[in-house]
Amino acid sequence: MDKLRVMSVFGTRPEAIKMCPLVRELASRPEIESLCCVTAQHRQMLDSVLEVFRCTPDYDLNIMTPRQTLSTITSKCLLGMDEAIDALKPDLILVHGDTSTTFAGALSAFYHQVKVGHVEAGLRTWDKYSPFPEEMNRKLVSAIADLYFCPTENNRNNLLKEGITEGLFVTGNTVIDALKTTVRDDYHFATDELNHLPYGERKVLLVTCHRRENYGEPMKNIMLALRQIAEENPDVELVYPVHLSPVVREAVDKYLRGAPRVHLIDPLPADEMHNLMARCYLVLTDSGGLQEEAPALGKPVLVMRRETERPEAVAAGTVKLCGVVQDDIVTMAERLIRDKDAYRAMAHAVNPYGDGRACQRIADAILWSFGRRAERPADYQGK
Ligand code: UD1
Ligand code: UDP
Repeated sequence: MDKLRVMSVFGTRPEAIKMCPLVRELASRPEIESLCCVTAQHRQMLDSVLEVFRCTPDYDLNIMTPRQTLSTITSKCLLGMDEAIDALKPDLILVHGDTSTTFAGALSAFYHQVKVGHVEAGLRTWDKYSPFPEEMNRKLVSAIADLYFCPTENNRNNLLKEGITEGLFVTGNTVIDALKTTVRDDYHFATDELNHLPYGERKVLLVTCHRRENYGEPMKNIMLALRQIAEENPDVELVYPVHLSPVVREAVDKYLRGAPRVHLIDPLPADEMHNLMARCYLVLTDSGGLQEEAPALGKPVLVMRRETERPEAVAAGTVKLCGVVQDDIVTMAERLIRDKDAYRAMAHAVNPYGDGRACQRIADAILWSFGRRAERPADYQGK
């Protein structure tokens, strides 16, 4: 029997971190030809991940332009995907999450009548404009997909509520598979500055911020809150690898640069970032991925957003929403900096997002769905 041709499509940093382990798992299966097409919606930040995970794409659409719009990303991806699908002739296309690459990848697969598997399916806030455009991207992909790899039971239930009842698997999130390959107790940072941070003596706060719905006033509030936290707490070092988006960089330069003990650095390679997270005191972020990784490493997270599509870690007590109002962010962060009991209540390792075997389950589910494996893989039960 011919090998099943499975083409993974991704383009941004978080998709790459979560898909590279899967590309490798699929390649380890004798029944599968694992193909990889990158849109390069992110150029430098994607290449950094490909290097860490030693992944060489079979096709590269190289679409990124500075200050790209949602329409340019989507249209360039669609045109490029026509060529990639014609060249690689996949039997199944895998897309991940909720970016413009994800949406365009799924739509293009549909135009070519190629089956679609959605990795990290079923996340919802039920608010069309938040996160923007991600909530709509993932809903549109749900309408197109054939196979749904849901990280958690809750994600599966979200899809059931929308009347999607076929092709659902609960697998855990592949980000936990990635973390298991990157985090090490004896890790030595290539970014030397990170080897010399006073981890024991001071509280290292790890910060990221990039969401489109936070552009403008919310991002200004976030930057001013970070400045205030640094100014008011001499025992704090704030480490912020700044996203390459010019909009984010402008806000950082205008409102945060120059504050005391604030380290504004370039985006970190994924292995550096994961090991920094494992050593930090607290995470402040609007990122999706960090809300999944930090709890697994026992680090409290304050989410600088008004909502989250990841309620599992909130329920487990390791993640809290602090909103996008300056005073609220400062109050909640300072409580965790100053009140040991409040900190201890949040700083425990939980793994609602996986056990490190999500890629294995997804590969098994694909083989079963295409009649190449007798048994359906057991769903991830969570903890
Ligand atoms: C995108 C995703 C978002 C995801 C985020 C992860 C969409 C609409 N948004 O948002 O869901 O959470 O990635 O980080 O798909 N840039 C570079 N080099 C890079 C990457 C970005 O210069 O390696 C700059 C470019 O000027 C680019 C801009 O950042 O135009 C914005 O990138 P874009 O992918 O459009 O949006 P993100 O905010 O990164
Ligand atoms: N990350 C990284 N380097 C950085 C910042 C983040 O490798 O400088 C990783 C982070 O650990 C997580 C992922 O990138 O795995 C999250 O990506 P991002 O915040 O860009 O997007 P989101 O998850 O919000 O879609």
